[in-house]
Amino acid sequence: MDTLHGFKRTDYCGNFTSGNIGQTVSVCGWVQRRRDLGQLIFIDLRDRTGIIQLAFDDSTDRSVFERAEAIRSEYVIAATGLVRERASKNPDLPTGDIEIEVKELRVLAEAETPPFEITENSDVNDTLRLTYRYLDLRRPDMQRAIALRHKVAKVTRDYFDENGFYEIETPMLTKSTPEGARDYLVPSRVHPGKFYALPQSPQQYKQLLMLSGFDRYFQIVRCFRDEDLRADRQPEFTQIDIEMSFVEQEDVMAINEGFIKRVFKDVLNVDVKTPFLRMPWREAMDRYGSDKPDIRFGLELRDISAIVSGCGFKVFSEPVAAGGSVRLINVPGGAEFFPRKKIDGLADFVKTYGAKGLAWLRLSPEGTTSSFAKFMTGEEMSAITAAAGANTGDLVLIVADAKNEVVFAALGALRCEIAKRMELTKKDDYKFLWVTEFPMFEYSEEEGRYVAMHHPFTAPMDEDVDKLETDKAGCRAKAYDMVLNGNEIGGGSIRISTPEMQKTMFRALGFTDEDAQERFGHLINAFKFGAPPHGGLAYGLDRLVMLMAGADSIRDVIAFPKVQNASELMTACPDTVDKKQLDELGIDIIKEEK
Ligand code: AMO
Ligand code: AMP
Repeated sequence: MDTLHGFKRTDYCGNFTSGNIGQTVSVCGWVQRRRDLGQLIFIDLRDRTGIIQLAFDDSTDRSVFERAEAIRSEYVIAATGLVRERASKNPDLPTGDIEIEVKELRVLAEAETPPFEITENSDVNDTLRLTYRYLDLRRPDMQRAIALRHKVAKVTRDYFDENGFYEIETPMLTKSTPEGARDYLVPSRVHPGKFYALPQSPQQYKQLLMLSGFDRYFQIVRCFRDEDLRADRQPEFTQIDIEMSFVEQEDVMAINEGFIKRVFKDVLNVDVKTPFLRMPWREAMDRYGSDKPDIRFGLELRDISAIVSGCGFKVFSEPVAAGGSVRLINVPGGAEFFPRKKIDGLADFVKTYGAKGLAWLRLSPEGTTSSFAKFMTGEEMSAITAAAGANTGDLVLIVADAKNEVVFAALGALRCEIAKRMELTKKDDYKFLWVTEFPMFEYSEEEGRYVAMHHPFTAPMDEDVDKLETDKAGCRAKAYDMVLNGNEIGGGSIRISTPEMQKTMFRALGFTDEDAQERFGHLINAFKFGAPPHGGLAYGLDRLVMLMAGADSIRDVIAFPKVQNASELMTACPDTVDKKQLDELGIDIIKEEK
């Protein structure tokens, strides 16, 4: 094996152009592949910028040629040689016009055959990819995604610095406070029986920094939540966390619209128009069935409860009588696109969102068919068709349920599924909006009480302050989410900043004053010492980068992500620990009885 000793790279592989012809250059990297044509050997050499061809022929020194013969894929090599024009050019490669006529070659490391080929967009299964993540990361698409993430982080720091924000670190070992997702706990050795919690977000610390007078704070920060994983959720993820003093909702929005404009311009050269559309939560639910609507396409929901409330079809009338609703979406051109069998597939799809069924009306040019017309009068059918705005060729899809949440969840997801199947959206069509006026509370069936929809530090809207205690369901918050193409990429609020209001809020959530003091005393007490009005927001950096990279999962923009069951395949964690370590912590593992 050779050493680097004295070898100096002159540039990265992907940076050479025909302008370098005639120059002696030095490169290093990994062998993408070697083609041996007997008297001729070509090596594609790869680094993070791309590939350049190394050439060995009868003019090559014999000892160098023999070394080239022994080289295999993924060997790490260094070469010095003369850049020359290629005899047969490769238009698919940015450096395809040139090659390096090698004079000196060093083998810096040999490599076993990797478990999968290191190529663009490989279809290797995820388990193998993640077990050998360090090899998976060698692939050009992963290299690009990680580089893009770096650029986003860099622009983030520049932008917030230029706008007067300080980056301040907050602790990773913190106090477990209720009212969020499940915490990751860290046992204390020094205080047996006591635990730290890893932060779900730096929420309370950043508010305290405002109280300390730092005025504007941001941090690119790791957060931890022990919740079920999905394509857009990881147990540890990164936020761009922001807090500002002496601001109202519009000020926070303006700074953040400026940030998005800047990051899309600098990283993707995309011009984003500001200000973004603002849509109250109620309207988002009614029109899109979602608090993070994808507004790249229509397929909006329509409420037909009033039309069907007295109809003879119990599937429709009973949910309305029970306080629920019947809503539809009209799919232009859907009659042909979704033949009968495919509609059954859509019905199965909505059932995964709790819907009991999917009623349909197909206005095919050959004639109208429907799953429910036989239960309705002619007038009722005409009224439904008119309400849907349906024309010949369209497909009307209806969900009825006694719970409005089910109708919204089912139709909200269905419109996105249909848009996907009919290919109505483009990934690089970026449609931003703010969803505003969120409800302060949502009812948790599990806990049998109202919980904060955003978090308990969010201020109520001025006109709804009285409702905090008297009308929880109708109380709206000064909370806002930034939504991009059906994804919640950020969320924030104007905060409560007086001890009285904070206590009222905890009471509204069902805490006794003692409980609130025990868990959140640090914040309530701090507010007694002069808190400026403040508010902020946090982005999911992983989600933002995922959308900018055109990836389908945040896993594809995280160097070392976890899989569905929250384990990391490469290092095989979580893992057991020595008994000695447990003893020091005073922890005993209780084996589950089989
Ligand atoms: P929130 O809980 O809405 O707000 O989180 C902010 C943003 O973080 C992202 N996010 C996640 N990304 C990946 N994996 C997860 N498990 C995950 N959970 C959340 C989302 C989300 O919009 N402290 C408040 C912010 C504030 O009020 O300033 C907070 O954490 O993109
Ligand atoms: P049935 O009387 O079971 O033949 O149902 C008639 C149609 O109503 C079928 O297309 C069912 O899928 C549909 N359906 C059943 N329950 C619901 C529901 N909750 N919402 C919408 N359609 C439903």
